[in-house]
Amino acid sequence: MELKGTAAIVTGGASGLGAATARALAAAGAKVAVLDVNAEAARSVASEIGGLGLECDVTGDEAARAAIASAREAHGAARVLVNCAGIGPPGRAVSRRGPLPLDDFRKIIEINLIGTFNCARLAAADMLEQDSVNDDGERGVIVNTSSVAAYDGQIGQPAYAASKGGIASLTLPLAREFASRGVRVMTIAPGLFATPLMFSLPEEAQKALGESVPFPSRLGDADEYASMVLYICENRMLNGEVVRLDGALRMAPR
Ligand SMILES: NC(=O)c1ccc[n+]([C@@H]2O[C@H](COP(=O)([O-])OP(=O)(O)OC[C@H]3O[C@@H](n4cnc5c(N)ncnc54)[C@H](O)[C@@H]3O)[C@@H](O)[C@H]2O)c1
Repeated sequence: MELKGTAAIVTGGASGLGAATARALAAAGAKVAVLDVNAEAARSVASEIGGLGLECDVTGDEAARAAIASAREAHGAARVLVNCAGIGPPGRAVSRRGPLPLDDFRKIIEINLIGTFNCARLAAADMLEQDSVNDDGERGVIVNTSSVAAYDGQIGQPAYAASKGGIASLTLPLAREFASRGVRVMTIAPGLFATPLMFSLPEEAQKALGESVPFPSRLGDADEYASMVLYICENRMLNGEVVRLDGALRMAPR
């Protein structure tokens, strides 16, 4: 997918991996809509890159339809969707306070898994209707964000790991469904990246986490995630796969 002049949507684009991706897509010439529940931060990133910042809670049917329609009006139908919106609060299945409230579990599944599917289905519906853009008949690319927790979930991550496992698992069926109309679906499973999500931990903990990565022994940089997104957009043979981006990290069981 040629990015120059192409309309792109980044959910969770107000911060961290999403913001780095929005910046990288814009630098590659894409017209970027930044969707985030944090409207002010979305507009701030958008104004920096000459894009469009839109308030959107990815869990809402109407909210996502409205935001994607606004992006379409401003930039034309998106050919690229990057799903980065997500949350990751820990919670044991049974803690000192008792069993994990089901609403805590539901909230993580709702934002991470259902929010990803919600935006993927709506953006894909638009992509499938467009003319193809190259000699392979390509119409669009969807990139989702899973996590190494999909494979090596730790204690306290049953909801997060399940949500990210769900994202990994929907990659192939969506890629298969859209294949005949030239829309690719890929998922990145990041390891440990330096983003505001990570900055909430004490510095010592961040350092120890970085050192636990075999090579390179540090936290990933959000720009390294963004460059992976750009590579996926450019390489048409990448489809229906989950790519770990983790410096060979395999999380220990605690
Ligand atoms: N940072 C890491 O080490 C890491 C590792 C693996 C996976 N991930 C995943 O990458 C994605 C981005 O994480 P990040 O580290 O950049 O975090 P971040 O907190 O910096 O950014 C997440 C963004 O999502 C937005 N968001 C949250 N709920 C939303 C909702 N309902 N609707 C719309 N936007 C919403 C937040 O406002 C925020 O701007 C997440 O899905 C996260 O699970 C991150």
